[in-house]
Amino acid sequence: MSDFARQNKATDAKIDTTTIFASGAFKIVYKGKYTKGERAGEECVCKIFKSESVFEESYFQEELKVVAKALEIVNMFNRDKHINQKILLNEPDVWTFTSGNKKGKKALIEPMITNFEKFNSNSGWTPKESSPWINAMQALSHFSYHTSNRRALLCDLQGGVYKDGFVLTDPVIISTNQEYGPTDLGVEGISTFFASHRCNQYCKVQWLVPHDKKKHFNVQKSTAMVLPNRQSRAALTCRLPG
Ligand SMILES: Nc1ncnc2c1ncn2[C@@H]1O[C@H](COP(=O)(O)OP(=O)(O)O)[C@@H](O)[C@H]1O
Ligand SMILES: [Mg+2]
Ligand SMILES: [Zn+2]
Repeated sequence: MSDFARQNKATDAKIDTTTIFASGAFKIVYKGKYTKGERAGEECVCKIFKSESVFEESYFQEELKVVAKALEIVNMFNRDKHINQKILLNEPDVWTFTSGNKKGKKALIEPMITNFEKFNSNSGWTPKESSPWINAMQALSHFSYHTSNRRALLCDLQGGVYKDGFVLTDPVIISTNQEYGPTDLGVEGISTFFASHRCNQYCKVQWLVPHDKKKHFNVQKSTAMVLPNRQSRAALTCRLPG
């Protein structure tokens, strides 16, 4: 199920950690260049978590779990041809710095996306204007809720236009079991998202919508997070290998 994954296809990279390239609610992003492998010479990004907390190891695992689930949904959306262009998803790998002042530390590495744009957030923010890509992304979110039979919502859709398609990165999965990390706002998040969602030409009339649509969170462009809950985190760490 990795057909629409955009992978590193590289084994080494040189990262410039002297300048912060970008940052979000959760991560600091550095720019770099792949040095070995198929993508050697191409630009990449390197992401580290802002807070070096005891939860860091679980953050990496959760990021990869979100990407795997998101990829399943993106693959289905492409296969069903809900739009006439394809959507790719950057698939990060966890690499370890082998030199410099971050030696031994882990980071997420993935290919660079140019012309970065954000299309929705996990609290239901969407751009005021509309365009085919903006609408396609709202439809992808709606589709995810339908195809998961109300259990999950793929959102925080952001990335860049790429040849004949669109490349996404860092999506959020909101789930009824709240099992996808600190940006998973649970049932109230799903309800909040749909309070703002307006179906467009790419949404299908038969797609499920929640019965309850209410703004439980402030609608904001930046990613909203819930603070780690002691019990749930402890349970998660137990399941980590090693
Ligand atoms: N693959 C990428 N290529 C280019 N810029 C990126 C890429 N991934 C993230 N960014 C930039 O870094 C910012 C933060 O990255 P993101 O993965 O969204 O972290 P956070 O978890 O903090 O939201 C993004 O808003 C974007 O500006
Ligand atoms: Mg983000
Ligand atoms: Zn819709």
